[in-house]
Amino acid sequence: MSAQVNPTSNVLEIVPVAGRIGAEVRGVRLSADLDAATVSEIRKAWLRYKVIFFRNQQHLDDGSQESLTALFSGKPVAHPTVPVVQGTEFIHELDSRYGGRANSWHTDVTFVDAYPKASILRALVVPPYGGDTVWANTVAAYEDLTPALRELADKLWAVHSNQYDYQARKPKSSAEDVRRYHEVFTSTVYETEHPVVRVHPETGERSLVLGHFVKNLVGVSSHDSAHLFQVLQEHVTRLENTVRWRWAVGDVAVWDNRATQHYAINDYGDQHRVVRRVTVDGDVPVSVDGRRSATRSKAPRASSTKREGVGASAAASAEA
Ligand SMILES: [Fe+2]
Repeated sequence: MSAQVNPTSNVLEIVPVAGRIGAEVRGVRLSADLDAATVSEIRKAWLRYKVIFFRNQQHLDDGSQESLTALFSGKPVAHPTVPVVQGTEFIHELDSRYGGRANSWHTDVTFVDAYPKASILRALVVPPYGGDTVWANTVAAYEDLTPALRELADKLWAVHSNQYDYQARKPKSSAEDVRRYHEVFTSTVYETEHPVVRVHPETGERSLVLGHFVKNLVGVSSHDSAHLFQVLQEHVTRLENTVRWRWAVGDVAVWDNRATQHYAINDYGDQHRVVRRVTVDGDVPVSVDGRRSATRSKAPRASSTKREGVGASAAASAEA
């Protein structure tokens, strides 16, 4: 049976991958020079399906990957704490040899206020099996809530920080991974308050803003905070809300970082896996009652050591 093709596009072949999120876009050789109609269709598909996939983009290098941010009307932005790959301006690398395994549910960089609106991920080395990535639709998760839970979520705010309990969330991490994480990823510690529900600046949809950078909910005891977080987060990660992508070298995934969470499955043992990411500058989230997120604190970690000697490889160990 042939896949259903999205009839809304006259320009591109857009094939949904799962019921609620994810579509493959076919027939495009990605570059910053695509014609306006193609760019418009890509942007529409990105907003509608939340994550879009492109196969066979082996022609891309770091520079041309960085230039793809123009397709999503934004500037590339470097990670706030992790040094970029040497010789690039904005490329963030996750290399499994250096512990780069983002295997817990998160939205990229939510510990800052204007976190990226899009992430563009390119597969350079893919293990023969394992290493898939899963994305979840945080708009569908919000819409799944009962009216009473929606009303509660609409009023909640959460503190997001890059200094979360890494070891507790990743009990299998090696001591070396934990050391590198603290060394690089939390060289500056951020704490930012976001509404638990943000209004999407382009679609007007409401989405849940949660994931592993959440430290606590504001105005709630730590005990209740943990329970409430779990109740809402489980709505995000329900399997019905997700799409799973089996990577091949040359694949590119672009997700709407305002409407998704993702999880890189760490099931490939010692096999090698390398992906490179560039993010697109985002807006400060706005709550359902019009209030904006704010960074409460941003400070060098007290025990932070100098960055010298922490090259791109070591930096690759850090979370996204
Ligand atoms: Fe990530």
